[in-house]
Amino acid sequence: MGILVKHAAELVTVSGFEKKSGRDMQDLGIITDGAVVMEGDKIVDVGTTAAILSRHNERDHEVINATGKAVLPGFIDPHTHFVFGGYRAEEFGMRLEGKSYMDIMAAGGGIASTTEATREESFDMLYHKGVTRLDQCLRYGVTTVEGKSGYGLDHDTELKQLRVMKKLSSDHPVDVVPTFMGAHAVPKEYKGKADAYLDMLIEDVLPTVRSEMLARFVDIFCEEGVFSVEQSRRYLTAAKAMGFKLKMHADEVISLGGAELAAELGALSADHLLAASELGIARMTKEGVIGVLLPTTAFCLDKPYANARRMIDHGMAVALATDFNPGSSFTQSIPLVMALAALKMGMTPEEIVTASTLNAAAAVDRADMVGSIDVGKKADLVILRYPSYRYLVYNTGQYTVEHVIKNNQLLF
Ligand code: NIG
Ligand code: FE
Repeated sequence: MGILVKHAAELVTVSGFEKKSGRDMQDLGIITDGAVVMEGDKIVDVGTTAAILSRHNERDHEVINATGKAVLPGFIDPHTHFVFGGYRAEEFGMRLEGKSYMDIMAAGGGIASTTEATREESFDMLYHKGVTRLDQCLRYGVTTVEGKSGYGLDHDTELKQLRVMKKLSSDHPVDVVPTFMGAHAVPKEYKGKADAYLDMLIEDVLPTVRSEMLARFVDIFCEEGVFSVEQSRRYLTAAKAMGFKLKMHADEVISLGGAELAAELGALSADHLLAASELGIARMTKEGVIGVLLPTTAFCLDKPYANARRMIDHGMAVALATDFNPGSSFTQSIPLVMALAALKMGMTPEEIVTASTLNAAAAVDRADMVGSIDVGKKADLVILRYPSYRYLVYNTGQYTVEHVIKNNQLLF
């Protein structure tokens, strides 16, 4: 039996099948007293409650009365590193005492420390932690999550992380979109030999990732002291030639020209952008590269936020994500991301909804499948305990999602 949701105070459709840029991010396609009909895992009809009830018989469906509640597309978290071993609480303490993220990394902590732990943990251990973390996604209303490898930095562990995500995606209600991020750091085995490490990834790892279809996206940490713009260009060009779509950790700490490179290569997204230049923003906008902004990372690193207002006013498409990882952003809190986007990055509540649904879907190349309430899309919905999407930012940092509909089931 399908599900029929009726009398939504606001049915926030975000209607669309591709990313919304600039001013269009304001457009949420709200239907007052809205209803939606789902069969299996697909949306089959959308409209006002009166129109829907004139076309469908309530007796044929499990009916959910959403009076006084807003209904939105399931949220999409398009940038995380959620499969990892160990934790780094002591580094958080070091940062509180004034050490910088890059100092800790240069001293052998940071990504290297999580890499050690992830190499040691078995497939099953990583898998079980993954289940718990995906359960937490659902509590926040996240129905699709991107996850990056990049804590193996060797052939076997990188593939282990991707295979864990593949199994999680088939076992758990949350859909997992994996990204290959072997170029997350230079491992100790290749200290001082970043180019040789990238060659190894290109020759030994990327072909397996492609042939086993373990990921469609390739990401790199383009940053001073990690991979340079030249190294990133060479690596991403090779990945693109193999058919991968591109993502970048760009201009996170220093304005290095990552945003410009993402535009030059036609990347799907460039992420972070705390230090992106005016030129980089203009070029990304022109080439249609999505800016994936990660306010909890700026918050946790106590850095100036990405200039979302400038980007959107320029006409860029912006998405929001948690960057959930054990170092720079150890949080899965979508409510915190949204509150910071509103209060610290100058985004409107409407832009925040678009950035967390349709544009986030576009950032994982799924805007044709999820991210809006449109006929033909997957029936991934959240029902808030409040009558408007405006409560997402107003009810600061709180759980506002009461129910999640995923795979034709009402969860919670
Ligand atoms: O997006 N900057 C690189 N990668 C992650 C952090 C990874 C880590 O610290 O473990 C990020 O901030
Ligand atoms: Fe990241």
